[in-house]
Amino acid sequence: MSDGFSLSDALATSNNPTPSAPPPQGWPSWGNQPPAPGGFPAYPGPPGTYPGSPAAPGTYPGAPGPYPGAPGPYPGGPAGQGLYPGAPGAFPGAPAGPGSYPAPGQPPSGPGFGPPPPQGGLAPPMKVPFELPLQAGLVPRMLITITGTINPNPNRFSLDFKKGNDVAFHFNPRFKEDNRKVIVCNSMFLNNWGREERTALKFPFEAGKPFKLQILCEVDHFKVAVNDAHLLQYNFREKQLNEITKLCIAGDITLTSVMPTMI
Ligand code: GAL
Repeated sequence: MSDGFSLSDALATSNNPTPSAPPPQGWPSWGNQPPAPGGFPAYPGPPGTYPGSPAAPGTYPGAPGPYPGAPGPYPGGPAGQGLYPGAPGAFPGAPAGPGSYPAPGQPPSGPGFGPPPPQGGLAPPMKVPFELPLQAGLVPRMLITITGTINPNPNRFSLDFKKGNDVAFHFNPRFKEDNRKVIVCNSMFLNNWGREERTALKFPFEAGKPFKLQILCEVDHFKVAVNDAHLLQYNFREKQLNEITKLCIAGDITLTSVMPTMI
C-alpha cells in the first residue's frame, strides 16, 4: 500500500491473527505511534469519503453531520429517532454536513473529546440502552464512531450488532470479572453464545473517563479502535452483512454520540 503507515509494526505488537490489507484511509493508524502533544493519540486525518459521495458504496444518501443529531445520520432511519432523541435535523434529506471527526490535530475539548454540543446549549443525554437502526445493514468501509463516558464504578457495557435476535458481533468490556478487566467478544446464534474471544492486549476504558470507540466493518472482519488506537479485530461469523440491521449499546456508560459514516 502506498499510504505509508507500517502494518508490520502494528502486527508485531497487535493481536491481529492474520496480516491483511491496511485499513482504508480515515481509520486510525494502529501502529505504536507516540501520542500527540497533550497526550491525545495522533489523529489520523479525516475520512476520505462520506456517505453519499460518489465514491462511496452508496448505502447512505445523506452524509452524517458533525454532531449527535446533526444533519442526516441515516436515511430511512425511523422518524423522530436521531442520534439522540429529539435532536433536530436527524432525518433523511437533511442537509449533509462534514464528517464526524475533530479537525486534524485538534486536542480534546470539553469534558469529553467528542464533538461539541449543538449551538445554543448542552445536548440532551442519549438514553442507554440505545439502538441505532442500520437500515441497509452493514457494508465494508462503514465506520461507526461512538463517543461517551464510562460511568463511575462500572461493571460492564456492550455493543451488539444484531441480525434479528442473533448477535453477529458482541463487544463487551467487563470491568470486574474476577477482579480483572477484560474485553469479551462473541456471537450469539439461536440464543446460544459461541466461543468467546478475549484477545485484546489492552483495556483502554477507565471509570469516569470519556472515550471514543470506533468499529470499522471490513470485508471479512470488524476492527475496533479506542481513542484512535487499534484494539482488536473480530472475524465475521455472520457473513450476511446486509442483514445486520441494528446496533444496540447498553451498560454502564453515558453516550454522547453515535455516528455511522463511510470511509
Ligand atoms: C455471557 C453473558 C452475555 C455475553 C456472553 C458473551 O456470560 O451473560 O451477556 O456477554 O457471555 O460470551
